[in-house]
Amino acid sequence: MKIPTISSDAPYSASQRAWLSGFFAGMHSQLLQSANTVVQTEARVVNILYGSQTGNAQSVANDAATAAKAHGLKPLVHSMDEITAAQLSVMATVLLITSTYGEGEMPDSVQMLWDEVAKLSETTWYTMHYAVFALGDTSYDLFCEAGKNWDNKLAELGALRLFDRVDCDVDYEEPAQAWLALVVPHISGTQQTAAVLDMSAPLEEKPQYHRKHPFPAALVVNRLLTAPHSSKETRHYEISIAGSGLHYEAGDALCVIPSNCPTLVTDIIAALACQGDEDEPVKGELMSLRDALSTHYEIKTPSKEFIEELAKRSGDQHLNGLVNATDKQALSDFLWGRDTLDLLRTYPICEFSAAEFLGLLKPLQHRAYSISSSSKVSPDTVHLTVASVRYHSGGRDHKGVCSTFLADLVTDSTKVKCFFLPNKVFRVPEDNTVPMIMVGPGTGIAPFRAFLQERQARQAIGKNWLFFGDRNADTDFIYQDELNAFKEQGVLTRLELAFSRDQEDKIYVQDKMREHGAELFAWLVEGGYFFVCGDAYRMAKDVDNALHQLIATHGNLSEQQALDYVNQLKKEKRYVRDVY
Ligand SMILES: Cc1cc2nc3c(=O)[nH]c(=O)nc-3n(C[C@H](O)[C@H](O)[C@H](O)COP(=O)(O)OP(=O)(O)OC[C@H]3O[C@@H](n4cnc5c(N)ncnc54)[C@H](O)[C@@H]3O)c2cc1C
Ligand SMILES: NC(=O)c1ccc[n+]([C@@H]2O[C@H](COP(=O)([O-])OP(=O)(O)OC[C@H]3O[C@@H](n4cnc5c(N)ncnc54)[C@H](OP(=O)(O)O)[C@@H]3O)[C@@H](O)[C@H]2O)c1
Ligand SMILES: Cc1cc2nc3c(=O)[nH]c(=O)nc-3n(C[C@H](O)[C@H](O)[C@H](O)COP(=O)(O)O)c2cc1C
Repeated sequence: MKIPTISSDAPYSASQRAWLSGFFAGMHSQLLQSANTVVQTEARVVNILYGSQTGNAQSVANDAATAAKAHGLKPLVHSMDEITAAQLSVMATVLLITSTYGEGEMPDSVQMLWDEVAKLSETTWYTMHYAVFALGDTSYDLFCEAGKNWDNKLAELGALRLFDRVDCDVDYEEPAQAWLALVVPHISGTQQTAAVLDMSAPLEEKPQYHRKHPFPAALVVNRLLTAPHSSKETRHYEISIAGSGLHYEAGDALCVIPSNCPTLVTDIIAALACQGDEDEPVKGELMSLRDALSTHYEIKTPSKEFIEELAKRSGDQHLNGLVNATDKQALSDFLWGRDTLDLLRTYPICEFSAAEFLGLLKPLQHRAYSISSSSKVSPDTVHLTVASVRYHSGGRDHKGVCSTFLADLVTDSTKVKCFFLPNKVFRVPEDNTVPMIMVGPGTGIAPFRAFLQERQARQAIGKNWLFFGDRNADTDFIYQDELNAFKEQGVLTRLELAFSRDQEDKIYVQDKMREHGAELFAWLVEGGYFFVCGDAYRMAKDVDNALHQLIATHGNLSEQQALDYVNQLKKEKRYVRDVY
């Protein structure tokens, strides 16, 4: 049995690489210990359960199924919203693969099953053998919390853990392959390694362009949507996919791989007292420090490793107190508005060589954007609606990496590296007659512009109702002309507007929902779909509360009955969200 190695060109920091190597060594010894107790499962079925918001966990689940098939197992792949606790309880072998969302929360597709299972207190699930692969991002306080909760709960219910859970950071592909190379042969009872896995016939075809092989697209339109004197900047982009063979659906997202702002790169090189031309090994090849910082590493948002190292090297009491506190809120508050450069400048006593510094950074990630066009109207271009992140803090202007890459850095000669993120749930209903209710304040309007285009192109007769809002009507009513045209053409049946800062007291989309609660409930009773897009942390939660309340009020239901009603909408995929 071969222990997978984490290749030195993989974009992990030294500490991440050491952790992963240690983890797999530990897993290997566990495997040897339990090799004689492999459980032969019923008809060699392996249940592969995934909870995914944007497709990563689903892609690991598909790879798991391919690997299982290659080992003579019968993989049954289920999204976690397709099964109940009763069905789960009788599964003999389970590979559970889930991401974490919001602030340490379950992905939407997992929440209902979790609510059911979390309530259970029996300890009779001892016929189940399971392993959990958790996807997350170490920049969040509650790293891989959903996976951790499942792992603990299944053990508490009496199920037997086959392997220690893997908690995986944003670069999940290599750890996932290594995990599968151990877990799947163990379950099948065959001791094959990754080298002999037949991964040639994946169950779901891999897209032509993906994270590791993005499409180089031209940015053909970059237009300001908000007024020049607005307090925010939201832009409309059109990205050409002509000749690529690519296709998208309204509801999908486009992921953009940015490069960092050259001024920030120069300032960081100066803060490190380097020149920028130092040769550094990155992914197995030598490149200059400047190039590495420009295109390979996240240099704006400080990594946990960097902050911890800074605390250690500086010996600063305040910073050490924040880093070591159990409650991370004070550290989050301290970091709000401070980027990596601010921290380097705050603790000049800490000197880093170029290699040390790079070793403490996370790989630069793509950013996802909900597509704001329908391919029925724009087959060759993808439209995006992006708020540029710009703020002043600590005496400096700060810019969001990707939103301002699109706004400021892409020129006629620069290509935008991108790939699609399909969202099979967040779609215009196939039935052209059912009503759609769409709640999308701010950039949350993006997919609903696409939905309205889609419905118009399909000549769908179903009613459409949009709840939109932003700060001020005169500066931030984006796509106003288009929305008015949709209304005149009868595509947009109702438009409710909530401009939060046009009066003393805030008015939000959920206030408008409550105001029109009776009609909204009537649309749901008619079979309507309820879509939400935009901010996950405040707006989506408040909209969810308002939905429960108006269903209780206008359906004459108790709190519990309203909850059941909402859960039924979720089960029928009539309440779906694209929130971030
Ligand atoms: C599925 C999905 C769909 C999405 N769709 C859209 C979309 O349609 N349109 C859209 O605009 N975005 C969308 N996003 C969000 C988008 O992916 C990016 O997160 C967003 O553009 C910011 O990225 P950035 O690289 O510009 O900023 P980053 O470099 O990632 O910086 C953002 C960080 O800056 C800090 N920050 C921001 N504002 C302030 C402030 N005022 N003060 C202090 N610190 C601050 C915060 O720490 C914040 O996390 C979507 C996200 C997902 C997951
Ligand atoms: N998770 C994330 O990182 C995340 C989430 C969402 C947005 N963003 C980023 O923030 C930037 C701006 O986003 P945006 O244009 O979509 O939205 P936004 O500017 O944050 O807000 C749009 C509208 O929603 C209102 N709003 C605030 N709190 C609300 C609540 N609890 N319920 C309902 N409405 C509420 C705002 O009002 P007031 O501002 O007047 O209160 C404003 O009118 C973008 O860069 C976006 O990517 C990031
Ligand atoms: C809005 C948002 C919130 C997130 N919250 C967390 C979190 O609290 N903890 C964590 O470990 N990861 C968090 N993540 C990271 C995701 O779990 C990670 O990107 C994962 O690979 C997504 O997998 P999926 O595509 O299968 O959903 C968050 C990501 C987004 C976009």
